[in-house]
Amino acid sequence: MTAPLDRPRAGHIEITTPAALPDETSTEAVLRPSRLDEFVGQHQVRTSLQIAIDAAKQRGEALDHVLFFGLPGLGKTTLAMLMAREMGVQCRTTSGPVLERPGDLVGLLTALGPGDILFIDEIHRLRPQLEEFLYPAMEDFHVDVRLSDGPHGQTLPMDIERFTLIGATTRFGLLTPPMRARFGLVERLSFYPTEDLTAIVIRSAGVLHVPIDAAGAAEIAKRARGTPRVANRLLRRVRDFAEVRAGGSITADVAVAALERLNVDEFGLDDMDTRILSTIIEKFDGGPVGLGTIAASVGEDAATLEEVYEPYLMQQGFLERTARGRMATRNAYRRLGLTPRRSDSQASLLDE
Ligand SMILES: Nc1ncnc2c1ncn2[C@@H]1O[C@H](COP(=O)(O)OP(=O)(O)OP(=O)(O)O)[C@@H](O)[C@H]1O
Ligand SMILES: [Mg+2]
Repeated sequence: MTAPLDRPRAGHIEITTPAALPDETSTEAVLRPSRLDEFVGQHQVRTSLQIAIDAAKQRGEALDHVLFFGLPGLGKTTLAMLMAREMGVQCRTTSGPVLERPGDLVGLLTALGPGDILFIDEIHRLRPQLEEFLYPAMEDFHVDVRLSDGPHGQTLPMDIERFTLIGATTRFGLLTPPMRARFGLVERLSFYPTEDLTAIVIRSAGVLHVPIDAAGAAEIAKRARGTPRVANRLLRRVRDFAEVRAGGSITADVAVAALERLNVDEFGLDDMDTRILSTIIEKFDGGPVGLGTIAASVGEDAATLEEVYEPYLMQQGFLERTARGRMATRNAYRRLGLTPRRSDSQASLLDE
């Protein structure tokens, strides 16, 4: 059809996958706000957490169990950590996939002091057996520890301290209804508007001692896909460029030049996004096409496409999810400089 758009351009650097990269885990810790009032944006979430914290403190009780859900990099772990700090309690961290048997949870639960927080990341990946083990712990602060296996195996009932479970998940839909029902607070994190991301970039630049002006921060924020982790990642890449090529300070011009080099366009789309859209358009006539087929064509796994790339493409109006599969929108054709092809299946969509 047209010139292939899916070939990575020279100098391509992968930067937008919001999962934390190994080298950035330590920087993430440095950039993590440690108090609720340093946490930028998500006003509603912040307000309800502040109320819950104040009320629990006033009563001298443990916080209710809290569930955070939202796409990667929006601040779930950050919030869990700062809740512990605000409450003045210890926080123990684990995650759904690393817990294998109830025994793995017993040690964690019995070590908790009154009001302490147990943070379970990726809680949707908890095994059913562990989930069931957690229910009485969450509800009655009580566990039944199995001493031996088999149908007549002995159990030892144990009381544990009143603790707070904080769960985080990127896939709310995969959490079982009984699990969801046991959280007193369920908070959803959404994409951040550019103004909030600008504030985050300015704050992070301050922490990292990088000179930046408001226009420079705004250029980075605009391309950060609504995601603080991406904003911080872009800031660090732009800082490298500024140090080597522009005397160290980040202005709008420096930010634009750096981001162009990184192949991040003015919408924050990078090579993988372009590849996804051009695959749907060029190989599948604009769709509808199944997620698995797109994943195989672009060489990315389906879960990453669904969790990382698609939400932003949909939010920006480049991609539509239909019952029959994914479709490229008129905006996507425009973005790739192509003319939408009219077919019956696309007519309604393309008419907008
Ligand atoms: N509201 C915010 N204000 C300032 N910085 C933030 C905010 N939200 C997130 N960040 C920063 O973004 C980075 C990623 O946040 P975090 O690790 O909390 O995301 P997450 O939702 O737990 O992601 P994942 O689903 O991948 O575990 C952290 O370095 C954190 O400092
Ligand atoms: Mg996290």
